[in-house]
Amino acid sequence: MSRRPVIAGNWKMHKLQSESAELANAVMKELKEIDKALLPEVVIAPVFTSLYAVNKALTDCGCGKVKMAAQNAYFETQGAFTGEVSVEMVKDAGAEYVIIGHSERRQYFGETDEMINKKAKKILDLGLIPIICCGESLEQREAGVTDSHIESQIKAALNGLSAEEVAKSIIAYEPIWAIGTGKTCDSDEANRVIGMIRNVVKGIAGANAADSIRILYGGSVKPNTIEEQMSKSDIDGALVGGASLTAESFGQIVKGAMKQTV
Ligand code: 13P
Repeated sequence: MSRRPVIAGNWKMHKLQSESAELANAVMKELKEIDKALLPEVVIAPVFTSLYAVNKALTDCGCGKVKMAAQNAYFETQGAFTGEVSVEMVKDAGAEYVIIGHSERRQYFGETDEMINKKAKKILDLGLIPIICCGESLEQREAGVTDSHIESQIKAALNGLSAEEVAKSIIAYEPIWAIGTGKTCDSDEANRVIGMIRNVVKGIAGANAADSIRILYGGSVKPNTIEEQMSKSDIDGALVGGASLTAESFGQIVKGAMKQTV
């Protein structure tokens, strides 16, 4: 089974509306010469306040080469949840994907496995694709509990989803110690962990879902790391932070990923 690669840019808390639209346009310009059929799934995730502006830039272009994700969304539809934004709302703004369970959200905003599971269900119910993040801290890695920790995160996130829903989902393995540090996880080790995740998915949802689900690596992905990462059997793409903030480096990552997959 060949899985379509995904290169997703998580812009985190960066960029005003005009800057976001500018970056979206610049990303599309970087990819202008490339036949859409050859491209990986390219996704960009602006802040909530820029979703409208980025969606407008992407739809005005009409090239259909770049999709949009929200960086989070709440599982309730509406109500007295001050400061939250629902999945319906990000869908209304044009998002087709939602990143959930990012380590920064778990760490700074108390997002729990149970919330992540509720969000995954809601996102899939509304026909969007969850990008479910998991990953271990340095302390967990040093204590030798990386695999068991990630296994429990994945089991909790996917709890109660059908095999079809699991197959459609995307997982991003992001070791916390590799995020924003310039310390990329060794690609063989990332591939090993991602293979382990695929095996956990197989146990939960069966072989077909495990073959279909795209599992990305994230953590200091750069233009000069992506080719080796994409050459590994189980790594289906990348969730990129810092290097997605300029069209040039993000474009290079997309093109680097294609060298390994075309
Ligand atoms: P960096 O690429 O900046 O390390 O961030 C990775 C990340 O957290 C993407 O979600």
